[in-house]
Amino acid sequence: CATVWTPLIHHISMHFTLKRALKCEFISAFWKQVADEFFWKKPATGPMLQYNFDVTKGNIFVKCMEGAKTNMCYNVLDRHVREGNLGEKVAYYWEGNSPEHHTTITYGQMLSHVCRCANVLKRMGVRKGDRVSIYLPMIPELVYTMLACARIGAVHSVVFAGFSSDSLCERIMDAQSSVLVTADGVYRGDKLINLKQISDEALEKTTSRIYIKRIKASEPVYRPCLFTQTRNLALDWWDEAMSDSSEDCEPEWLDAEDPLFILYTSGSTGKPKGVVHTVAGYLLYTFLTFKCVFDYHHDDVYWCTADIGWITGHSYITYGPLANGATSVLFEGIPVHPHVGRFWEVIEKYKVTKFYTAPTAIRLLMKYGPEPLYDLSTLRILGTVGEPINPEAWQWYYETVGQRRCPVVDTFWQTETGGHVLTPLPAATPLKPGSATFPFFGVEPTILNEHGEEVEGEAEGYLVFRKPWPGIMRTVYENHERFENTYFKKFPGFYVTGDGARRDKDGYFWITGRIDDMLNVSGHLMSTAEVEAALTLHSAVSEAAVVSRPHQVKGECLYCFVTLKDSREFDKKMVAELKMLVREKIGPIATPDFIQNAPALPKTRSGKIMRRILRQIARNEKDLGDLSTLADPKVVEVLFSQRSEAA
Ligand code: WTA
Repeated sequence: CATVWTPLIHHISMHFTLKRALKCEFISAFWKQVADEFFWKKPATGPMLQYNFDVTKGNIFVKCMEGAKTNMCYNVLDRHVREGNLGEKVAYYWEGNSPEHHTTITYGQMLSHVCRCANVLKRMGVRKGDRVSIYLPMIPELVYTMLACARIGAVHSVVFAGFSSDSLCERIMDAQSSVLVTADGVYRGDKLINLKQISDEALEKTTSRIYIKRIKASEPVYRPCLFTQTRNLALDWWDEAMSDSSEDCEPEWLDAEDPLFILYTSGSTGKPKGVVHTVAGYLLYTFLTFKCVFDYHHDDVYWCTADIGWITGHSYITYGPLANGATSVLFEGIPVHPHVGRFWEVIEKYKVTKFYTAPTAIRLLMKYGPEPLYDLSTLRILGTVGEPINPEAWQWYYETVGQRRCPVVDTFWQTETGGHVLTPLPAATPLKPGSATFPFFGVEPTILNEHGEEVEGEAEGYLVFRKPWPGIMRTVYENHERFENTYFKKFPGFYVTGDGARRDKDGYFWITGRIDDMLNVSGHLMSTAEVEAALTLHSAVSEAAVVSRPHQVKGECLYCFVTLKDSREFDKKMVAELKMLVREKIGPIATPDFIQNAPALPKTRSGKIMRRILRQIARNEKDLGDLSTLADPKVVEVLFSQRSEAA
């Protein structure tokens, strides 16, 4: 009982203290107190937060702790080793794709690896402000490289190692990276992903100056048993580069608002946006959200199953946990390899206390229920992120995995928000399955109607934020105009998330999903425009329109309508070619589930595709409502008659 009530009282009192503080505009004092946990080479001269959220009043900006100088890497490593005596504490239990491969890395070892890597990067000519692209699987070197960049003031741009060479190339070009750090390959389950080959292809197309750190180019292509060797080769090679590299590397003291990293996220125009996060604000925000939302204790073993290639991994595998001096599991594998109990096995093996995963993984594992046959009694808190969680999956997570003991924190946030913005506090917030509940400290959400008016009480509409918090993005890399247009133009004075939300009578927020042309497949956000652009690259395609369709495990999946050029035939071969094209252009995560022939698309008289109708056709919903704006209503009948049910 005490374990529930003590944090409850603590959090409630914090919440009320904060509400009062907000009213008195003491928010600055709140963040100042958080900042006091960290090392500042120079203190801030400006306020904790300065901002303009109103495009009609000038450029949009957010600044946190202007004038301060610090270093992220120093704060998440040196500070613990030197000041906190945590040199021997485990930072990561690394668990490979195969259960036989695992290692333990302490904070002291991390610091040494990171400094060596930082010196290697410096030797390669990387300087403060330069961009470094990282295309690595979930191996410790990924974290070392990120922190090495942070140490020398280079800006990392991690590209998820499941992206295609085209996607990698586009991201290297946009960031104008001077270095790419990659590995030769990785096994994901039984499947080998030849990262080096993909990188080589990407580099062929880029004009940037690139040094590829590769692992024995002449090595014969991987045999299945070569997994360990493949990794060892990476380490051999890594060791070679690191062997004569010093363990001493003075951190570069950066301005609070210097960029820390770029991370690309899908944009509704199709071209990915380079979301930029900066040093001080991101440090404060990931630190505090991790600490509160997972109720961090020093003896926790925390595991977030996301990939560091996404924001969840950046904030809640790398920076948030390390800023707290936490011990985490770093997992290279997938939930169902070599068997469907792998997640539970890992929880038992490392005695995981806090577990953070995505609804898509929960739904997948539910299918193999009813109960994991492993000891899950160490679990204290369960988290979910990435997409709305359906009540059935929530219940299973709560009852079967958490054995009704563990609060489920449904955390709503985005690449852009840097950290959790709507989330329960465990054991403090009464939960409602499927609701991300309330805002985190200092966050002020509201709901707007179509006219941009705030709607009070029970309401549904656009989810927006009135004010920034330290961890919000600062710009789109080299394109501030796109940043303002995407997030601030529609409703001046507010940050527009692109999600819809409902507020119930108790004030709880319920995310209703994207309200732009984005969709969420297995927790990965992608734009319909991006997939449409890939489909129309096929010489036979004259037009394509992509919509989402509900999917039992993935949440949503891609349903594509393609109009072929005259004389081209729509057959199985064509479908296979189109699927392959999307995989090649974007990556396997974007593979369409359905492709249907569309002799014509439903359009308005002004030529705009009516996606609402396409969505209904994809879902086989016959009641289409008002079709009066359609230029040619007959198109709809034809499309219904040619629906694709073959996945
Ligand atoms: C969706 C992932 C409902 C939402 C951290 C958002 C969610 C997009 C939740 C951001 C949640 C994320 N409930 N929907 N708990 N968490 N989303 O940038 O549509 O990859 O806008 O960041 O995921 O995806 P992103």
